[in-house]
Amino acid sequence: LKATVLTQINTTDHLDHLNEIRVNTLGKKGPITEVLRGMKDISAEERPVIGAFANEIRDLLKDALELKKAELENLALNAQLAAEKIDVSLPGTDFEPGHAHVIQQIIEQLENQFLGMGYQIAEGPEVEEDKYNFEMMNLPKDHPARDMQDTFYITPEILMRTQTSPVQARTMEKHDFTQGALKMISPGRVYRRDTDDATHSHQFHQVEGLVIDKHITMADLKGTLLKVAQELFGEKHQIRLRPSYFPFTEPSVEVDVSWNDVDENTKPEDIEWIEVLGAGMVHPNVLKMAGVDPEVYGGFAFGLGPDRFAMLKYGVDDIRNFYLNDVRFLSQFK
Ligand code: PHE
Repeated sequence: LKATVLTQINTTDHLDHLNEIRVNTLGKKGPITEVLRGMKDISAEERPVIGAFANEIRDLLKDALELKKAELENLALNAQLAAEKIDVSLPGTDFEPGHAHVIQQIIEQLENQFLGMGYQIAEGPEVEEDKYNFEMMNLPKDHPARDMQDTFYITPEILMRTQTSPVQARTMEKHDFTQGALKMISPGRVYRRDTDDATHSHQFHQVEGLVIDKHITMADLKGTLLKVAQELFGEKHQIRLRPSYFPFTEPSVEVDVSWNDVDENTKPEDIEWIEVLGAGMVHPNVLKMAGVDPEVYGGFAFGLGPDRFAMLKYGVDDIRNFYLNDVRFLSQFK
């Protein structure tokens, strides 16, 4: 029995099978238990001899079984470790790195330029109060110019902002003028009830600009805008100011950028002008309503459209492309 069982133990390579051998040999119905159970029928002299022999075989087989068990378990563990091993030298899966949206890129470029000129970046809510969007921008109720910016109203007093100009009022209200000039830009989304087509979108972007200090003139406005336009479009581009009307600026201008390069030899009639923004000197009413004394302080404001800038810069002919999230379009602007 000893030899047979030991061979069985040594040749098996399955834990299940090993367990079977153990049950069959040492279990309740196994031969060893049977021998031990039959001890009562054996004579008193023989009993200790046979008992000792049976116990010896039992212990020997038990040890052999345990040894084999440990060996098999170890093998199984090693196999599992080998199977789960990670080869760190294998090349990884390639990720397509993302990039900022083309409009965001223009906004960030503008932000960097203005930060370099000492401006702060201000933010205001897209869901805005009538008070800030219109009233404090010198557009009282029933003002005809409210129609210029057909509005999405949420309640009679709350609306989707139609322009970033309300951030002017919000920033002026908070600014401590004893600490110096206010110079800020405020980029963000604006909303208008327009039917979407190639040049109109019910949602687009603006970058508002505002400078308030003592002794600010229109020359400061023109110089600032010329610098920004040339950094964005190139050194050879010029700007042109045309009289216009906005309720919150007086005088007001519309600003054009030359589409072609301009130098001293360019004839005025050969310049192609493209309108890019509205601007002007901040209206005294706007200052007053924001708690700023128009007798002491004044300044300029402008509102430009990064969507328009992007269309000009990259020759995009349909504004809706910016909002359809078609990666074939967007991934061109890495
Ligand atoms: N808020 C104006 C618009 O949306 C732009 C503007 C801003 C004009 C600031 C003048 C000064 O059309």
